[in-house]
Amino acid sequence: MLARMTNGKRFLVIGAGTMGNGYARMLASGRVPGATLAGVVDIDGTKALELANATGAPAFGDIETAVAETGAGAAYVATPDSLHRAPVEVLARLGLAILVEKPLATTVEDARAMMAAVEHAGVYAEVNYSNRWNPPFVEAMRTVDSGDIGELRSFNVCLNNPVSSPRDRLRWSGGTTPAWFLMSHCLDLALWLGRKKALTVYATGGRGELAGHGIETYDWIHAVVRYTDGADGVFESCWILPDSWPGGVEFRFKAIGTKGVIDVDTTYQNIAVTAERHRYPGTIQWAPARLQAFLRGMEGEVRTGVPFGDGLEVTRILVALHRSLESGSVEPV
Ligand SMILES: NC(=O)c1ccc[n+]([C@@H]2O[C@H](COP(=O)([O-])OP(=O)(O)OC[C@H]3O[C@@H](n4cnc5c(N)ncnc54)[C@H](O)[C@@H]3O)[C@@H](O)[C@H]2O)c1
Repeated sequence: MLARMTNGKRFLVIGAGTMGNGYARMLASGRVPGATLAGVVDIDGTKALELANATGAPAFGDIETAVAETGAGAAYVATPDSLHRAPVEVLARLGLAILVEKPLATTVEDARAMMAAVEHAGVYAEVNYSNRWNPPFVEAMRTVDSGDIGELRSFNVCLNNPVSSPRDRLRWSGGTTPAWFLMSHCLDLALWLGRKKALTVYATGGRGELAGHGIETYDWIHAVVRYTDGADGVFESCWILPDSWPGGVEFRFKAIGTKGVIDVDTTYQNIAVTAERHRYPGTIQWAPARLQAFLRGMEGEVRTGVPFGDGLEVTRILVALHRSLESGSVEPV
């Protein structure tokens, strides 16, 4: 009922951190035709106010008040990895369309509860596995669809960050792992491009560098995923690239099919600048296209989005992966 009284193209941004800043500023700048920023919500009043001042939108401390006062009809949720469930349940109950950051949840129980909440409320909801709109992966999908590569049989993917990301930027890196934060993207790309279901996972990882900074999480995690059709994937996510790393990520993706190979490397961003220091400035942008796809999905056009079911599948793999890290054994997914 409330959904009909609200405006689906006016967005609330829940969580005024790094991602919330990016999406709120994008909405406020008019770079996503038809969508606007209705307000910003953060439990940290200072962060909410800072972002509100930067965008001209009002700041709120809770979702109920924000919806009541703005009449927003959609929300982008960018709270820490393990804190997606509560905002999603409230937003669903209030009838808003929801785009929630990855990973959908860090427990299977949370993921299922979130799926049930949006189904019960009948609201449109997607997970922000945004690399599906990253231009090289859009082309990879087109190529897979064309049949030129054949059936995908082997994935080899690494997505790594400089140590400054978990050490200096994320305040909650000790409450997550490089697998939840980074490898979730890689597992989603394999799921999407290969349309595969995981059967088992074996993972190893190491600690020490981040622990030395008081951050109790893995420095790196390696995983081997076996899919039900006999295909395999090898995944690496590392959080201790040196401070001297010239860009924001190391991202290499290779998929071998029965008829061909796809190789993606966004590490260098198509540009290297050497001045005071060597760096790869970020040039590959896709967030506006991602948000436009969400709008098209909300409006009932062809749905190219990321359903909560895919979010659940990645969460299931990651839960088994973390079990394997503890047990040292191959774990069923
Ligand atoms: N799609 C991508 O490419 C991508 C990239 C980076 C991060 N992420 C994901 O985005 C999410 C946010 O990451 P970030 O780097 O912006 O984190 P961040 O720490 O910079 O921001 C999180 C914000 O959420 C706020 N918050 C916490 N609980 C809240 C609640 N209940 N209600 C409202 N606000 C609340 C915090 O105060 C903080 O300001 C994570 O799940 C992360 O994995 C996605």
